[in-house]
Amino acid sequence: MLSTSPQAVDARLTRAAIFLVVTLGAGAESEAAARSLCGDLAALVRGVGFRSADGGLSCIMGIGSDAWDRLFGAPKPRELHPFREIRGVHTAVATPGDLLFHIRASRMDLCFEMATLIMARLGDAVSAADEVQGFKYFDNRDLLGFVDGTENPVARAAIDATLIGEEDAVFAGGSYVIVQKYLHDLGKWNALPVERQEKIIGREKLSDIELDDAVKPTFAHNVLTTITEDGKELKILRDNMPFGDAGKGEFGTYFIGYARSPGRIEQMLENMFVGKPPGNYDRLLDVSRAVTGSLFFVPPATFLDDAASGDTATPSPPSAGESEAEAASTPPVSPDGSLRIGSLKKEAGNE
Ligand code: HEM
Repeated sequence: MLSTSPQAVDARLTRAAIFLVVTLGAGAESEAAARSLCGDLAALVRGVGFRSADGGLSCIMGIGSDAWDRLFGAPKPRELHPFREIRGVHTAVATPGDLLFHIRASRMDLCFEMATLIMARLGDAVSAADEVQGFKYFDNRDLLGFVDGTENPVARAAIDATLIGEEDAVFAGGSYVIVQKYLHDLGKWNALPVERQEKIIGREKLSDIELDDAVKPTFAHNVLTTITEDGKELKILRDNMPFGDAGKGEFGTYFIGYARSPGRIEQMLENMFVGKPPGNYDRLLDVSRAVTGSLFFVPPATFLDDAASGDTATPSPPSAGESEAEAASTPPVSPDGSLRIGSLKKEAGNE
């Protein structure tokens, strides 16, 4: 069994979330503060989460490409790079972001407490680039009225889709995440007949049943975001959340997608924004504008634990009876099939 524990990338979908993206200030002091927080994050989650046993609090920390160079240097996760703007029929903008905190819980007070503690720890070392409070909307619908998340992989398939394995053995158990904040023109969307909306998404609005291939257009969202390699579908794990400010007429979807390779998500974005073939783009974008876009690496939890001491980025040694190849070939999962998410360095009550 590997000594690496992933972060809770596949934590169950929750009723509330905060998406917090910050940029790191100049200087070694800012870098030290960020590294120190890495080491304290699991303890903060335990401290806040333990007060509400059924709150399901989790917090994923992601690190952007430039921040990685400053905080950890080499070795670097093989596919970590800044988010690249995509200019097609519509534009997927790239916006600043050094650290991402994806905080999930069944209640917003837990998320808010966690975000407050993170910002207090980081203090002047960071500036908030963007913070969004997301909520679940009726039966997991987005504000366009469609059920969002249906085709997400679950269990072993979610692990296979999200956690790095032998392709980058030093960072096995890590993941990549892309976030984008979309603002919807709900007036324009709601003026479309439901049949047209269903063709744009590729599913029935009320029942969430997928449209038959015979009637589904090639530009449907679920066609353009279904990608394959060697005949095998390449999945990602999404945990999109609606957000909004009714008083200001602001209605949005915060897109968050995890994958073991960012190339999967980038391919989907290319299909959506440029079109497949070019010009056959995602009509969802005629009513949804991406106003942010950033890419982060999600190190294993054990990497974060070690970050404060500077003892990071060393490959996990295989345990007795396990070859190097076996150790690197699959993402780390415990014998009971779980991700050992509860086994972050120090178990509660065992410190
Ligand atoms: C405005 C932003 C977005 C909205 C409102 C939205 C909404 C939806 C909805 C309603 C579905 C169908 C139900 C489901 O399977 O979840 C869906 C599917 C999907 N979306 Fe999105 N989405 C958005 C952006 C994105 C982006 C940026 C990506 C990837 C880069 C993406 C990837 C996917 C994938 C992979 C599926 C499943 C396709 C399938 O296997 O059938 N979505 N989305």
